[in-house]
Amino acid sequence: MRFGWWKKKSPELAGVDIGSSSVKVVELAKKGKTLRLASAGIAELEAGAISDGEIRNAPAVSEALKGLLEQHNVSARNVALSVAGSAVMVKRILVPEAEGDALAESVLAEGQRQLSADVSELNIDYQVLGPGTAPKTLDVMLVAARREMIGHRVAAVTAAGWNPVLVDVDAFAIQTAFENAYQPAPGQTVALIDVGASLINISIVRDGVPVFTRDIPADAQYTAALQKSLNLSAAEAEAFKRGKDGAAVAETFMGAIDAARETFLDGLASELHRTVSYVHQVAGSSGATNIDAAYVSGGMASLPGICERLHRELSVQVEILNPLRGIRASDPTLDTEHVAEISPRLATAVGLALRSFDER
Ligand SMILES: Nc1ncnc2c1ncn2[C@@H]1O[C@H](COP(=O)(O)OP(=O)(O)OP(=O)(O)O)[C@@H](O)[C@H]1O
Ligand SMILES: [Mg+2]
Repeated sequence: MRFGWWKKKSPELAGVDIGSSSVKVVELAKKGKTLRLASAGIAELEAGAISDGEIRNAPAVSEALKGLLEQHNVSARNVALSVAGSAVMVKRILVPEAEGDALAESVLAEGQRQLSADVSELNIDYQVLGPGTAPKTLDVMLVAARREMIGHRVAAVTAAGWNPVLVDVDAFAIQTAFENAYQPAPGQTVALIDVGASLINISIVRDGVPVFTRDIPADAQYTAALQKSLNLSAAEAEAFKRGKDGAAVAETFMGAIDAARETFLDGLASELHRTVSYVHQVAGSSGATNIDAAYVSGGMASLPGICERLHRELSVQVEILNPLRGIRASDPTLDTEHVAEISPRLATAVGLALRSFDER
């Protein structure tokens, strides 16, 4: 899936993921057919700077971006960024067979009919996936995002001194990163599950096509449950989640922690179950009836027991997504141990950085 609003020709670009808890950057270089990691990093954002994908504190986000890009010596001046959350809509539609302007017109008309929003407020793009299920129709992937949301992100990057050239969707960027890293065999259907600070994205992907993708609010249930059961502040609960000072507290509160984690994992598993059942129901005709494997990314991929719990749900292999699989560092000064540790959180940024090498 090669998708992007605002595409401008730009061979060298860095991938910038503006997440709700942190901003991440990845820059890749290509020598011949070999990809190398030129830089990668994360800067945490202050609480509330972004919610439901909307930038609430623009100066804080720009400052974090500027610091991140400078600290990691990002050499590309152009960046690819992405959007996610309730302001992004991804729909597969059927339209009558057509080409050029006529096709664009019928896609827009169908979009207007199906999207519960004013299309004049949206950036819309589409890709023809192939012939539709009915005679003389086309199967089209329609993607729309609120123009204002894209504008805020573009402005944040510009204010940080970088040049935004492409806007993708988190889920598609994760898919790009997955396909590059794992080279799935033709006919394989995989579930990609990204669990971030405020959003869970579940995508079912087959042969390069996102058969289905949805963003679900993660509503920080796990952090809230930890805070409550351990009587911690938000910052303490956050540090605790990441294992800092964990051992001492864990001794005393093991039961409460396990319960909070299990509740979170049960919720995640049931969302996954619901998504897979839905895909079984509606996508039978496109052949995506069985999931062959699942990959978990995002910060919460580090939560102990997450792969095991999802394996119980799906009965297929579930592993943590390493978007940098097969990509070695090009710079010997890069802290590869740290990068390996944060790599599941870099899936979106890696997918965006890979857009440097789009055929054009
Ligand atoms: N080692 C860890 N163990 C458990 N949880 C972790 C760990 N590291 C990070 N997290 C959690 O992962 C979340 C951040 O993940 P990530 O960076 O993928 O989110 P984001 O991209 O900023 O948010 P979103 O995609 O939802 O907008 C936070 O909730 C954080 O507490
Ligand atoms: Mg994210």
